[in-house]
Amino acid sequence: MGRCCLEGLVDAAVLSGLKPGVNSKVLGGPSLGGLVLSATCFKTCCCQKLGNTLVFLMYLIAKNKESQKKLYEEIMRLTPNGAQLDSHSLSEAHYLRACIMESFRVLPTAPCVARILESDLKLSDYYLKAGTVVLCHTWLAGLDESNFEDAKSFSPERWLSADGTCSSVNIHPFLVVPFGVGRRVCPGKRFVELELQVILAQIVRQFEIDFEGEMELNFEFLLAPAAANFTMKERVR
Ligand code: HEM
Repeated sequence: MGRCCLEGLVDAAVLSGLKPGVNSKVLGGPSLGGLVLSATCFKTCCCQKLGNTLVFLMYLIAKNKESQKKLYEEIMRLTPNGAQLDSHSLSEAHYLRACIMESFRVLPTAPCVARILESDLKLSDYYLKAGTVVLCHTWLAGLDESNFEDAKSFSPERWLSADGTCSSVNIHPFLVVPFGVGRRVCPGKRFVELELQVILAQIVRQFEIDFEGEMELNFEFLLAPAAANFTMKERVR
């Protein structure tokens, strides 16, 4: 297996004089132990979430041929004659971003946000004591008919405003929060959003995606595909 850039980072930290449990002067704080833990966490949990999200996204695109067609047409329009995908074309890729938001609503890899209460709290008619673990199940909220019309259907169009731009102006800002919210919001959010746009656009530009049957899911706090049965057909241009 190839070396991960984070292994290089850890090695660099060792070379720069960091020792386990000793605070780093170079990096302004974290100990080597902390750095190794973050790197391991990134490689396992974060990369896994990114991978699972991509599989869910490809699955939903494979199962919704009309959306796949619209997405392909948008990408071809923004990158004519084999032009490179760049920051300008990506900024205009509204349908692409709408597909990603819709995929986070229908199949989020992190289906709830967890908090431990610091102080007593009254929520509706429930009195919760400090120290209670509260799970905010955003997946259920996303699939609730009272929040979204035809909630079980994959419909990127619900994220598009009248002028065709991807926006969530008509959707409550705390309903679809795949990266959490507030002080503990995921620091990988921007990186993941960009990465998903680039990878999906490149895949759809080159391949027609198909999926046989229905995807089975595993749930161990995070949602993951049990198996992925994709067929990728190279596009003829
Ligand atoms: C599709 C990919 C990802 C998803 C869906 C995701 C989702 C989340 C969620 C829901 C949280 C909890 C936020 C909260 O409690 O409010 C979180 C936290 C976190 N994520 Fe991500 N994440 C992803 C990828 C990444 C990546 C690539 C990185 C690393 C660059 C990362 C680093 C972190 C860290 C360090 C935290 C803890 C933040 C804190 O507690 O202050 N995540 N993520």
